[in-house]
Amino acid sequence: MCGIIGVAGAHDALGVLLGGLERLEYRGYDSAGVALVAPDGVLWRRRSAERATSLVHLEAALPDAPAGSTSGIGHTRWATHGAPTVANAHPHLDCTGHLALVHNGIIENHRALMAELVERGHAFTSETDSEVLVHLVEEARAAGADLAEALRTILDRVHGDFAVAVVAADQPDLLVAARRTSPLVFGHGAGVAVLASDVAAVLGTAEALHALGDDEVLALRPGRFSVTDLAGRPVAPRPLEVRYGLEAARKGGFDDFMSKEMAEQPHAVADTLLGRLDPATGATDLEELALGRDQLAGVERVVFVACGSSYHASLVGRQAVEAWAHLPAEAEVASEFRYRDAVVGPEVLVVAVSQSGESADTLHALREARRRGARAITVTNVVDSLMAREADGVLYTRAGPEIGVASTKCHLAQLAILEVLALHLARARDALSPATAGELAGALAGVPAAIEQALGRAAQVAAVADRFGGAEHFYFLGRRAGLPLAMEGALKLKELAYVRAEAYPAGEMKHGPIALIEPGSVVVAMATRGPLWDKVAANIAEMRARGATIVAVCDDGDEETAAIADAVLEVPPLPELLVPLAAAVPLQRFAYEVARRRGHDVDRPRNLAKVVTVE
Ligand code: F6R
Repeated sequence: MCGIIGVAGAHDALGVLLGGLERLEYRGYDSAGVALVAPDGVLWRRRSAERATSLVHLEAALPDAPAGSTSGIGHTRWATHGAPTVANAHPHLDCTGHLALVHNGIIENHRALMAELVERGHAFTSETDSEVLVHLVEEARAAGADLAEALRTILDRVHGDFAVAVVAADQPDLLVAARRTSPLVFGHGAGVAVLASDVAAVLGTAEALHALGDDEVLALRPGRFSVTDLAGRPVAPRPLEVRYGLEAARKGGFDDFMSKEMAEQPHAVADTLLGRLDPATGATDLEELALGRDQLAGVERVVFVACGSSYHASLVGRQAVEAWAHLPAEAEVASEFRYRDAVVGPEVLVVAVSQSGESADTLHALREARRRGARAITVTNVVDSLMAREADGVLYTRAGPEIGVASTKCHLAQLAILEVLALHLARARDALSPATAGELAGALAGVPAAIEQALGRAAQVAAVADRFGGAEHFYFLGRRAGLPLAMEGALKLKELAYVRAEAYPAGEMKHGPIALIEPGSVVVAMATRGPLWDKVAANIAEMRARGATIVAVCDDGDEETAAIADAVLEVPPLPELLVPLAAAVPLQRFAYEVARRRGHDVDRPRNLAKVVTVE
């Protein structure tokens, strides 16, 4: 969703801002803008709201940018309050045109603040909630406060979530920023100071990064900075460990980020497993969880909360916890959990699963669970993200930045860490024999190689996409671990190819949805070998008898399955609960191929944002 970048002390401030905005694009946005502090002490601003191509249009509007500007701020906006128009795009200016401000988040009491400000003579030029902030800073400055002080003094009056950055025309090398809930990082590179809402935006510009904390105010200049709390007391900022470099946020020769990220999946899973699993003994090491063996042994129930692909990973995690740790487990869509009277207390371990660590639905579910007394951990790919900070413990997936909107490598890394967590719980409770734990750990250690093999079947997937990709309706069917896998395959097809794809438990079709099956329906059946293969085969027969075309996801060389299907997507055999780790690969690829054939942008599907910070 929205993104912020700011720079001070650069030879080419505009270049740094545009480079940062480009790397914020993946979050999803509908308008963009920049403001530069020109050497003559005037603020120069350009904004664009051309749908989906704002950045290109913004760049086209920039030839008259003032030369020699060393500082400025930029923003990508995903509209909430007010339509995606130029007037609503950030940066916003105060009445004097001397201050420019960018904001991520939502100011809940903006109407009341705006009414007051209008009464005091301020003129508003947008419909956004954000604009009140710049007028409040303007007033505080007029009352004699310096820029940082001005921002500090207004924050008590502001309700909501925000990351905000301000520049003033008369202080060319100063960036001032603050945050509450919405993330903000900052750092220094060669002679420059940068800040951003997302690490990816400042990769390659800053060498060491720090994270700003809630209700902290930053005054940032080239070579120095100060951070204070709202009372003006100095605060030591937290250094941020970034495990990847600029290359990780570039396409690196691939046509699109999605291809690159699918290709990175063996590494994402191997890195996520590294040091956490001993394939020889089945021993697990999740020290970072900050929950000891005794605490884990006392857990009576596990509840996963997540959205989208993270929810599908959670459904597999739930099955692994039940099967291996013999603990009652549930997985629930976070937006539903939050508003249900969920019965969770200290005996429950809540696992919030979120690639971004920022999804509002999952964040609020996590908070609600903790409010009810549950112990809560977060599984996320983003170091120091909101959910990482708010949980009692955190398990990081180590997939590197995922830029494509549709989750691929992060989804597989989530599956891997959730299976390790299930194994860890099983060992803490002595629920598995050392031999079984060792076998599972050995199989998990072999998953990166299995993913590599699955990636090698791209030609087979492309051929299936050629034959059946034109269909208008798809049904993805599975049982047990095959069901979340089917759900993930259907979601990928919906979000990338904009095709109706329904995921259903294979055994449930006969209770109603089978009425929809007719010649031309394409059924993608999860038919790898496992205890339920016979049942799935029977369900396939039921669909075939009604004219459906069957695409079966099956084990390599499984001729019996091939004989009951029209086409197969083959994957290396794995133990049943590990199958989604490899079998998601052809389903991702299938959605990718169908989307490309239909001419869609696979990295930025319509209507979607990578980071969903609204409910
Ligand atoms: C689908 C996808 C989304 C996300 C969902 C949750 O490809 O990426 O369904 O999984 O929006 O996002 P996170 O995991 O960041 O909480």
